[in-house]
Amino acid sequence: MSGPRRILITGAGSGLGLELARQLATPGVTFIICGRRLSALDAAAAELRALGAEVETSAVDLTDPAARDAWVATASAGTIDLAILNAAQFGGRGRDGMLERPDVAARMIDTNLAAPVALALRLSDQMRAAGQGTLLFISSLGAFAVQADAPTYSATKAGLTAFARSLREDLGPDGVRVVIAHPGHMETAQTEVHRGPLPGLMPVKDAARVILAGLEAGRSEIDFPRHLRLGLRLQALLPWKVQARINRGLRFWVDDGEDDRT
Ligand SMILES: NC(=O)c1ccc[n+]([C@@H]2O[C@H](COP(=O)([O-])OP(=O)(O)OC[C@H]3O[C@@H](n4cnc5c(N)ncnc54)[C@H](OP(=O)(O)O)[C@@H]3O)[C@@H](O)[C@H]2O)c1
Repeated sequence: MSGPRRILITGAGSGLGLELARQLATPGVTFIICGRRLSALDAAAAELRALGAEVETSAVDLTDPAARDAWVATASAGTIDLAILNAAQFGGRGRDGMLERPDVAARMIDTNLAAPVALALRLSDQMRAAGQGTLLFISSLGAFAVQADAPTYSATKAGLTAFARSLREDLGPDGVRVVIAHPGHMETAQTEVHRGPLPGLMPVKDAARVILAGLEAGRSEIDFPRHLRLGLRLQALLPWKVQARINRGLRFWVDDGEDDRT
């Protein structure tokens, strides 16, 4: 088999992370997976083991730098062929019309940006030394959109994309591949709390297939659905005020149970 043998995935207990693991699971593959909910990780591990893979699970809150650093130090003591930096939190305007509280915003920044940056820097040292490996960042088409209802989430994804593109330039000559996926809306827990239009919503199975096909084909950026990515590219050429006006038709709120945003 020529595919990756040791695969690290953050947030593999549910959603896209779990679906990517399912589609990569085969005898000979070892998964190193984390998330906060051990019960979800245990259920994922049982499924992946039934498909012939080996699995190491760790309950880690990626907003805790000490726990995060200890986990990745242990994981990167062995060769990692593929690291999928997937875990993230979504949040934005609530039922009461208020934007996310500063503490919620800070947690999103920690999970969606600070954590993958810290993990990637650690993993890239190990991959550079090994002269091989792939870092797959799960960003979002939200990185390119004006989202008045989710400013922090958009910023974390735009920041992640900028970081990964820069890292790619640094690691490429040393044989380490950096790939960024920019998915549109997928059917996961994230879209279950999204109240508003979800153009191009796709089953998570299909999304994982698109990402893995892009990875296999050697692409550096995997953006889908294509018509939405094209729309965002064209929109970016328009004056700023026109871009913002187009996005007014896509306004949403997040039903996350956070009623008190003051
Ligand atoms: N769904 C969409 O429409 C969509 C669109 C574009 C991009 N994305 C991106 O796709 C990726 C996967 O999201 P998803 O849609 O699959 O949502 P999801 O089902 O909510 O998955 C997020 C995963 O991240 C883990 N996680 C969250 N906070 C964590 C923390 N502090 N420490 C450790 N693990 C944490 C969660 O596990 P625990 O709760 O157990 O910690 C969960 O398994 C994310 O990067 C998301 O931004 C999603």
